[in-house]
Amino acid sequence: MSLKFDIRPSANPTPEKEREAKLENPGFGRIFSDHMAIVRYTQGQGWHSARIESRANFPLDPAGAVLHYAQEIFEGLKAYRRDDGGVNLFRPDANARRFQNSAERMAMAKLPEDVFIEAVEQLVRIDRAWIPGGEGSLYLRPFMIASEVFLGVKPSAEYIFSVIASPVGSYFKGGPAPVSIWVSENYTRAAIGGTGAVKCGGNYAASLRAQAEAIDHGCDQVVFLDAIERRYIEELGGMNIFFVFDDGSMLTPPLGTILPGITRDSIIALMKDSGVRVREEAYSIDQWRKDAASGKLKEAFACGTAAVISPIGKVCSANGDFAISGGAAGPVAMGLRKKLVDIQYGRTNDPHNWIKKV
Ligand code: PLP
Ligand code: COI
Repeated sequence: MSLKFDIRPSANPTPEKEREAKLENPGFGRIFSDHMAIVRYTQGQGWHSARIESRANFPLDPAGAVLHYAQEIFEGLKAYRRDDGGVNLFRPDANARRFQNSAERMAMAKLPEDVFIEAVEQLVRIDRAWIPGGEGSLYLRPFMIASEVFLGVKPSAEYIFSVIASPVGSYFKGGPAPVSIWVSENYTRAAIGGTGAVKCGGNYAASLRAQAEAIDHGCDQVVFLDAIERRYIEELGGMNIFFVFDDGSMLTPPLGTILPGITRDSIIALMKDSGVRVREEAYSIDQWRKDAASGKLKEAFACGTAAVISPIGKVCSANGDFAISGGAAGPVAMGLRKKLVDIQYGRTNDPHNWIKKV
């Protein structure tokens, strides 16, 4: 399926000086570009009314389904400015596929992959001046909401798909400096048969209490344990996790109840290229504590589109705290981070054809 986007440039774009000032220190997710993409879905009619237009409020009826039963999904990917002035997207096809899986799980209409990618590309084209230089990037947030005006509990017959763009610097205030994480023992994130493996807004709403507990304990992020045995490490609120051992081997929790991260998949592929098979195996919090104490565990790091690769320096829990790599950023995490970022910015070759030039 192919939809033609009606491109309607803003009559009131942000003046260049104002934009440049905003791009100087963008932070994460607070500044937005001038435009958005919108595509609508109506049962019986399919996808229609594809547009790029001025970023504006959505008219949404108070009985709009998303406001009551949270039928909402989203994605996150970034556009990177290359040294030659061109723009790279990183694996947008993988985001488009995951968006379809999320839609399927949430009983929403499935957006064709080519429409997802076209919406992202058109938005990046029209707002390319919003991509920060240096280590910044333009964070793209495709999302879909159920817009039918109806209070019955059933899949909506209407949806709005949209993409917005936010120039970003580092997700964590400290950049790639090691982060501290809090082990959530009171709350879990996902159970088998639930929605843990898809990117629906409800997962994040349910994680906020645990994240607040992490902050209360002086930590940056929360890490969740499995919902059955309450022992095995799953993932962080918005990132996957990897462990590096003294024999050079690596481990990451298996897929199932965690989000299948595109960064996670890319790291597994990059390690395989360099001859290291990452084991996708369950790893318990007790084992983690033991391995950190004995020196068997050398590094742990979190990864995701927003956070890239962030070393974990300290783990805190109700049973006591422990440090990893003496609280410093480890060489494997930092080496992988450089390799990945170099591919994303087009500074090195791209053996897996992950880059899509815009
Ligand atoms: N896990 C969760 C819960 C996330 O929200 C994210 C971010 O999207 C990730 C993992 C990492 O996924 P990706 O690498 O595709 O950004
Ligand atoms: C991402 O990395 O894209 C995320 O979605 C994580 C977080 C901002 C929700």
